[in-house]
Amino acid sequence: MAGTPYGKSMAQAAVAAAQAAAAKSVDRVYNFNPGPAVLPLPVLEEAQRNLLALPGVGMSILEISHRSKSFDEIMAGAEADLRGLLNIPENYKVAFLQGGASLQFTMVPMNLLPKDGAADYIVSGHWSQAAVKEAKKVGKVNIAGSTEAENFVRLPRQEELKLDPKAAYAHFTSNNTIYGTEWFGEPEVGSVPLVCDASSDILSRALDITKYALLYAGAQKNMGPAGVTTVIIRDDLLARVPAGLPAMLDYKLQVEKKSVYNTPPVFAIYIERLVLQWLRQLGGLGEMERRNKEKADMLYAAIDASGGFYRGTAEKGCRSRMNVTFRLPSEALEEKFVKEAAAQKLSGLKGHRSVGGLRASMFNAFPREGVQALVAFMKDFQQKNG
Ligand SMILES: Cc1ncc(COP(=O)(O)O)c(C=O)c1O
Repeated sequence: MAGTPYGKSMAQAAVAAAQAAAAKSVDRVYNFNPGPAVLPLPVLEEAQRNLLALPGVGMSILEISHRSKSFDEIMAGAEADLRGLLNIPENYKVAFLQGGASLQFTMVPMNLLPKDGAADYIVSGHWSQAAVKEAKKVGKVNIAGSTEAENFVRLPRQEELKLDPKAAYAHFTSNNTIYGTEWFGEPEVGSVPLVCDASSDILSRALDITKYALLYAGAQKNMGPAGVTTVIIRDDLLARVPAGLPAMLDYKLQVEKKSVYNTPPVFAIYIERLVLQWLRQLGGLGEMERRNKEKADMLYAAIDASGGFYRGTAEKGCRSRMNVTFRLPSEALEEKFVKEAAAQKLSGLKGHRSVGGLRASMFNAFPREGVQALVAFMKDFQQKNG
């Protein structure tokens, strides 16, 4: 075999190149992105190990049939772990759908908002506004509360809500990914079915699922990769689904067909299954909450101790554990901060384009060490620029 310029055989060169690529791939940065976001390293490693052939199957997860026994087991495992983690009772169904949380903005009213009814929407940020926009295309919407006039720096307070006891449902967004505010309890809506977009804080802490009639979340922040959206829906809501909906948008049909009416996002569901397993093995949502609180407390403490150099944008009582939003004294300094942080492997800290500033997203899989590194960087940056 002809030698390479380095005197190695082609085979040796290929092995060396593969090793170099592998080494590079583990040179990971701290990923503060708001979604798609950081995934647990053990999950990525297991997916990598099994990518060519699932143990006992001999085919890649990317190649297997969604109607095979192996995939049935993956789906069943994902559902069982989700049920275990959230304590989901029998009278709730779980579906793994496509179209992102954004399609749920449409599916919820299509399935649950009757022509002669109205739904309450609590507006606490960009994504609840987006949900309202889509629901209005389907039926009548009542804005039960909004903090838009205050730039969404806080959540609407219970006493401010103008809820309709006859509403078809009441919708809220449990974590406002862009504004960095989060509900740590549910709004009280009486006997009206509560619907929640939990895309950016699902599984970050324990919750009482029986307070919800429907909860949905895109996976790509706390639960897996983009491509699968998990929907948890109480039985009695399925009875309301009108006849004649487009098949893909019909909760009843999707539940009856166990999320395989058509080809589901097999790979995304597989990764979600691994993430759920990881969560269960590390101790479940109590442990996850402890870790998330510790990380958020550390970062907010650094912001609050900076003498005003760093300024949290959310009101203190509403601060999110998932997305910490803050500002610096000037936009020029913010730009410099993002650039210099990235050079130190602190990636994805730029705030959403609609609000500017900084945002550190610290979902379930984000490691404590990454927050410590950010806090150290912040102190150093302030010393040099304050
Ligand atoms: C709270 C919330 N809801 C909905 C969405 C939209 O999700 P998707 O891109 O899955 O449609 C996002 C995206 O960031 C979000 O943060």
